[in-house]
This record gives sequence, C-alpha cells and structure tokens, in this order.
Amino acid sequence: MSKVAVVFWSGTGNTEAMADLVAQGARAAGATADIIQCGDFSADRIADYDAFAFGCPAMGDEELEDGEFLPMYDEVEPALSGQKVALFGSYDWNDGEWMELWEQRAEEAGLNVVDSVIAKDYPDDDAATDCMRIGAQLA
Ligand SMILES: Cc1cc2nc3c(=O)[nH]c(=O)nc-3n(C[C@H](O)[C@H](O)[C@H](O)COP(=O)(O)O)c2cc1C
Repeated sequence: MSKVAVVFWSGTGNTEAMADLVAQGARAAGATADIIQCGDFSADRIADYDAFAFGCPAMGDEELEDGEFLPMYDEVEPALSGQKVALFGSYDWNDGEWMELWEQRAEEAGLNVVDSVIAKDYPDDDAATDCMRIGAQLA
C-alpha cells in the first residue's frame, strides 16, 4: 500500500482544508495518508513515504510562507529528487503566480511534480474535486 505525506502550512485554514481533501483523495484511492503540519516534517521522514503533497498559500509577494514552511521546504527539497510530489495552496488577490514559481523551482530541483492545485480562498467544489484528484494521483 502506498503511503502519502500531506505536509502543509496554513494561516487561516484554507490550505488546511485543501490538505484534508488531498488526504481524503489518497485514502479513497487505497493509500494511507498522514496530514503533517510543516513544522513536524523534515528530511529524515522522507524514507517513510512513497509520495508527497506540499501545501502552502501565497504569502509575502507571491512567495511561500517564510517563517515555518520555507525553512522546512528548503531542507527537504534536495532530498526529494525523483520523488512523486503534488503541490497545492490557497491564494486571494493575484492569479496564482506563486504556484507557477514553486512548480518551476521544484522541477528544476528534479522533483517529479505530478500536478498542482490552487484555490481562491476556501476551496470551492471544483478545487475540492481537484484536491481529491491529486491525492488519488499520489496513491
Ligand atoms: C501576509 C500575507 C501575504 C499574502 N500574499 C499574497 C500574494 O502574494 N498573492 C495572493 O494572491 N494572495 C496573498 N495572500 C492571500 C492569502 O494567500 C490567502 O488569504 C489564502 O487564502 C490564505 O490561505 P490560508 O487560509 O491557508 O492561510 C496573502 C495573505 C497574507 C496574510
């Protein structure tokens, strides 16, 4: 059985709701999924999982949250080369540029980015379906 880590940061709960949906999608497709606050994840946990979903909203100016999420992500990304990864997160006033930059960065680091999902604020029905789908893709 495939084991999926869903690692996220969320300030106001929108990306957290997406994390729950990604995990639901993975479980519905037969995997086990752990939902992990980003502060509790580090490179030494990578070997415990077969696939990874990372969630972080657009913060700063089209950036990843730099207090907790980015330090964790900077540490784990080099160790994830070749691994199956999906990216997700919520945004509000721009058009999702932070996710394009994030995907580009991850691909340049050699990650196998299978898909990404963005949601404007709280995930609506379409975004919820997409979150479930990327969970299933990782299963
Ligand atoms: C400090 C701060 C910076 C933000 N920067 C951006 C941004 O650059 N682009 C954007 O579209 N939304 C930006 N937002 C909006 C958040 O991405 C949006 O509210 C999102 O739904 C928050 O997700 P969360 O509930 O998981 O924390 C920012 C919000 C805050 C508080």
